Amino acid sequence: MVLRRHFVVLVAAVAALLVQACGGGNSMPATVTFTQHVAPVLYANCAICHRPGGSAHFSLVSYADARKYAVANAYVTRRRIMPPWPADPHYTQFVGQRVLDERDIALLEKWVKDGTPEGPADKLPALPQFPFGSQVGTPDMRIPVQPYLLPAGSTDKFLLVKVPYELPADTFASLIEFIPGRANIVHHVNGDMVKYEAARKTDVFAGDRIVEMAGDTATLLQAYQRLGLPNDDGSYPVLQKSVVNYLPGVYGQRYPDGLGGYRLPRKGAFLLNDMHYGFNNKADVTDSSYINIFFSPLPPNRPVQEFQLGTWGVVPAEPDMQILPNTIKPVYSRYTVPADISILTINPHMHLLGKSFKAYALKPGGDTIRLISIPRWDFNWQYFYTFKKMVKVPAGSIIVAEGVYDNTTANLNNPFSPPRLVTDQNGSMKATDEMFQFIVTYVPYQPGDEEVSLERKR
Ligand code: HEC
Repeated sequence: MVLRRHFVVLVAAVAALLVQACGGGNSMPATVTFTQHVAPVLYANCAICHRPGGSAHFSLVSYADARKYAVANAYVTRRRIMPPWPADPHYTQFVGQRVLDERDIALLEKWVKDGTPEGPADKLPALPQFPFGSQVGTPDMRIPVQPYLLPAGSTDKFLLVKVPYELPADTFASLIEFIPGRANIVHHVNGDMVKYEAARKTDVFAGDRIVEMAGDTATLLQAYQRLGLPNDDGSYPVLQKSVVNYLPGVYGQRYPDGLGGYRLPRKGAFLLNDMHYGFNNKADVTDSSYINIFFSPLPPNRPVQEFQLGTWGVVPAEPDMQILPNTIKPVYSRYTVPADISILTINPHMHLLGKSFKAYALKPGGDTIRLISIPRWDFNWQYFYTFKKMVKVPAGSIIVAEGVYDNTTANLNNPFSPPRLVTDQNGSMKATDEMFQFIVTYVPYQPGDEEVSLERKR
């Protein structure tokens, strides 16, 4: 009996060794080189951000650069910090997900062990073509965002930015795309569309273009006033949420024909919420970002709709958003779907105390539809996750979102030391207040939706 146990352990150990040597079952080259093995991994998975002009601060394109970061690359990929993709790929899969397989990581590790050799020059793959000025094509209209000066030494800035426009007539658009001027300082953008009835607003260009959302800017409503958002009579126009979103490495999403799209009123404005500029430790820099609009001859015949759970949502965060110091607090939100829907994208949202996030739907019969699991919440990477195919959620299902907040000193992102009571302050966008949101974009279900691919149309 004892012998048998030993034998089993021995077999397991040998198997583990073999797996290690083979890099998870795939054979490893005797010597890993940059040109033959490492460059293909870096170009396919990292260079979109780590290249000259990309969103990261250093490039991983040349041999010299890759070599300089070889140890760091092996470390961050093994720990799955890079490429940034907080969603668990074993739970659900999304369009454009960047997740390294075990062999890629093993190659980066073995390259370090092998002494980071360059390899034969003629084996270096061509660098992929990275789009410039648009991720999808040639836009029909380009609206500049007011340039913003970020002085040397400035810390994080959160801005509310108005980008007004006037067209000759009401128009349709298939895609509205945000393009950062300086990809390495524009952190992320989530923008809505302000839709005016032309007769009720004389001048869409009046008012400030930029309000800093920090310190003295008391409320959102005051900021809206300064931006001149209200109609002439002081009432508020319609706000369509989340029409333009940007995060480094994420492409604008153009859906298959007939799906999605927008009605652009003759007079309108884009309202970029929470436009986030990171720390600038270099010289003064001016960012000139812009918005691309792709017109569409057709009205959106299946306009994308949206609801959200949690803060400002159709159902509240429960039990509440009082996150006491030195506690770990779970919060949830539940929403019963009134009609059959087809989900396109989802966007979990929390701030700095976020620890983990999970969402799923419970069908009336009891089955679970998985939506997303984020085991390690990362404030910096809050994607709008697009499903590869639309996900049908039948009427009567309960969508459940669960978030966990860590307001202890163990949370390295905790903005307060010692920890303080943190609340949602009625939906403040300040990163040091908290939010709990799960945004769902969808269309009313039609038979066959489950088979409609949402993979990127180029
Ligand atoms: C979506 C954009 C994006 C992708 C894709 C990406 N990175 Fe990064 N990476 C960043 C950003 C942003 C940072 C933060 C530092 C900075 O701004 O340069 C970073 C930081 C790093 C760091 C430094 C970590 C630290 O703690 O200082 C390493 C190493 C790294 N990335 C390696 C990689 C590797 C290897 C890949 C591909 C397997 C990759 N990255 C893919 C955006 C990206």
